[in-house]
Formats: sequence, C-alpha cells, structure tokens
Amino acid sequence: MTRPAVNTPSQPPLMVDGADPRAAVWKMVQGVYRFSSLYVMARLDLAGLLKDGPRTAADLAESCGARTDQLTRVLRALVAMGFLDAAGGPRIPGAQATDAYALNDQGATLLSDDPGSMRWAVLSAGEPGSWNAMSGVVDAVLGGVSPFAREYGSMYGYLEQHPEAAGDFDAFMASRSRDTAEALVQRYDFGDVRTVTDVGGGTGIVLSTVMAAHPRIRGTLLDLEHVVRRGEQSFREQGLADRCEFVAGDYFASVPEGADLYLLSNVIHNLGRPDAVRLLRRVREAMREDSRVLALDILLPSDGQSHFGFDLNIRMMAVFPGGQERDQEEYKAVLHEAGLHVTGVTSLPRTPLSAIEAVRRSPV
Ligand SMILES: C[S@@+](CC[C@H](N)C(=O)[O-])C[C@H]1O[C@@H](n2cnc3c(N)ncnc32)[C@H](O)[C@@H]1O
Repeated sequence: MTRPAVNTPSQPPLMVDGADPRAAVWKMVQGVYRFSSLYVMARLDLAGLLKDGPRTAADLAESCGARTDQLTRVLRALVAMGFLDAAGGPRIPGAQATDAYALNDQGATLLSDDPGSMRWAVLSAGEPGSWNAMSGVVDAVLGGVSPFAREYGSMYGYLEQHPEAAGDFDAFMASRSRDTAEALVQRYDFGDVRTVTDVGGGTGIVLSTVMAAHPRIRGTLLDLEHVVRRGEQSFREQGLADRCEFVAGDYFASVPEGADLYLLSNVIHNLGRPDAVRLLRRVREAMREDSRVLALDILLPSDGQSHFGFDLNIRMMAVFPGGQERDQEEYKAVLHEAGLHVTGVTSLPRTPLSAIEAVRRSPV
C-alpha cells in the first residue's frame, strides 16, 4: 500500500525546524496531540472497522456513530502519523468524506483479536482517569503523593470503581506481559517446580504460559475478585482451568501456603517500601523452607544508561502512593528486609524486565 509522501513518521513536521534546540520540546508537546488521535483510533476500534478492506470516512463515521467532519480530521492525522494509509494515494490536504482509508501494519497492531494487541495499552493510557492522573506528577513531586493516588488509594482502587477501565487494564497487562512470560519460560529453569502461586497475577498470562510450557505444574492465581474471575475465564478457554486454583482476595491479608514457587510479576514496583516489605513478608510466611520467590520487575540501570524504566517510574509516581522502579541494590534491600535472600537475577530478553529469584534467609 502506498504511503503519502508527506507527513511520514520519519519526517515529523514540527512547529520549528528539526535542528532548532526547541524541536525536542515541540516533539513532546505535539506528542500529546498525536496521542489523542491514536486514542480515538483505539476507542472507536478503527482498526477493527478497517480489517476487511478500505472504507471511506463517511462509511466509518456511520459505523461508529461519529461526526464525519470531525472523524475525517482524525483520520487525516492518523495517515500523517503512519497508522493508516490513504487508500487512493497521498490525498491528505483537504480530505473529503468520500476519501477511503486502509489499515497498514502499524495500525494493525491495534486490532483487538491480536494476542499482543497494542489497543489496550492505548486505551489504558488514554482513558480519562489514567490520563488526568499524569498531570498530578508535579503534586507528587511537591507533596509526596499524587492527587489520583490520594483519591483512589492506588490505580487498583480506581479500577474497582471503573469496570470498563479495569477490563482494558487487565487486557493491557496480559498483552504487555506476554513477551515477559515467553522470555521467562525460555530463560528460567523450572526443573523441579511442581506448584506455582502467582501473586497479583492479573488474568494469569505469566502463570498460564508457564503451565502450558510445563504440563506437570499446577498453579494458583491470586488477585482481586473482579480480576481473578476474568482470569478463570481465560484459563478455561485455554484448557488449563483444571490444573489451577483461583483465589480471590487481598494479597496483604493472606497468600496461599506451601507452593514451590511464588511469582510476583509487575507487582513490587506498584508498592512503596513499607508495603513491598509487608507483602513479601506475607509471602515468606506462606513459603515452605525450600520454596522460592520469583519477582519479575524492571531493574533500573545504575550506570546512567537510558531505560524504559525511568519513564515507567514517573507513571508509578502518578498512580500509586509509593510505587517506584528500583535498581538491583534497592530491590535486594527490600527483599532482605522482608527476610529473603537473592539467589539469582536473570534478564528477560526482548523485555525491559528481569527475574529476581529469592529464598528465605535465616536468621531474619
Ligand atoms: C501490574 S498488575 C500485574 C499483573 C500480572 N502479574 C502481570 O505481570 O501481567 C498488578 C496486579 O496486582 C493486583 N493487585 C493489586 N492490589 C492487590 C491486592 N491488594 N490483592 C491482590 N491483588 C492485587 C492487581 O489487580 C493487578 O492485577
């Protein structure tokens, strides 16, 4: 399919010339406008509507109950960013309601039925509560806790009150953690593991991937009620439900006892140190002498290298009271305070995460 010759993502037109020192700032500001068009694409499922072939702006607008003129403006912006193609050639300026648009490879990453779909990442970042939360980072910097975290307790308090956002968030975590789960089964030796409890396991993408790769392993998925129910459904669809227990509850209150391995994937970074230690102590109480903990999280590089974790760290500040990314020494210190001792760190290829393995240490 032919891309328009103008406004391609490799030559983003900015308010100022690219060599101008203000260009980097403009790019960030413009990114907010651009993201808004991408959010419309995800929210109205334009990728799904274009899946079977090109359609005109008027036709798309009718399908999703939109105003044709407003939708045309967004479609034009999406072509300029490279998420859609102008089906009839590079006719961006003065787009008409009768102009047709086609899905390209980049836009197709927003198709909902793709297991690694990016649609949920966009919906989760762009839905109103989550989006507004980001402007509270400055309050967090000045006052310690963002207004969002103060109002809802954490992202999960907000999601309990907003079921649609909760469904999108779970789907986002499942698509985001898919690569992590696959890297984990490639890299980590599950040799003698027979039972795995996934603490804060979401809908269980990591646990189900491990169980699918190791048919002898039985699992327990622990998460909040509304999440675990969605997880159970997903395990049923994969034919894994008969090897798994589903435990709905608060991980601070109790963790099922006696598993060989306790997984905590993307969980500790949601918590400030006192809560992280509290949760890990709860896990430690549930462990047998020879059980292991396997925490999957980002370890920030301490050599100043650029890393996705530095951006995610800001997201954690906006939506959790104490949530933060940590470097390896900080992570070890949290585990140590909880009575655990790190026995290995494995980086997970094609993801920014590492698997941090720990056992009970004694004396505590
Ligand atoms: C960032 S998600 C990680 C999901 C999954 N482990 C993954 O890596 O994709 C954190 C999970 O912790 C769960 N969670 C948060 N607070 C919890 C609590 N108090 N008790 C049980 N689960 C909780 C959330 O519902 C969410 O599914």
